[in-house]
Amino acid sequence: MKIQRFIFSGITSIFFVVISSCTKEKVPISNTVTCTDTILFSTQIEPMIQNNCISCHAVGGSFPTLTNHAEISANASGILSTMNGSPQLMPLNGPALNDTLIQQFYCWINQGKANN
Ligand code: HEC
Repeated sequence: MKIQRFIFSGITSIFFVVISSCTKEKVPISNTVTCTDTILFSTQIEPMIQNNCISCHAVGGSFPTLTNHAEISANASGILSTMNGSPQLMPLNGPALNDTLIQQFYCWINQGKANN
């Protein structure tokens, strides 16, 4: 009985070590943010996409295209989750964007994805 318990707890701890070492380091911020400042599409969101994403997501590049407000807002939730590493981290091959940029994108969605 005792030895079985020992083996079982050993297997359980190995399982947890494996699981936690596989987990992405990036921790999603979206549950912990309070949005106080108004985020502007023209000076914050669009430049962030242009600087970090448009090299691959222009017309003729990878799906989805992210070239204007309509495309960015239509794909907003997918953009937010990929910036947080799910289903795969964007920008592709990293590094992840800094938390400030991800928070701004989250807040822009939260504030109605305005074209401001
Ligand atoms: C180096 C090229 C590259 C860069 C830079 C890049 N992407 Fe991507 N992205 C890809 C490719 C390739 C795919 C398609 C991946 C696939 O289908 O396996 C993709 C897919 C996506 C998807 C769809 C993901 C899905 O599985 O539904 C989203 C959303 C996305 N990218 C957002 C972004 C955002 C936001 C940025 C900038 C922060 C960005 N990407 C930067 C290459 C890139």
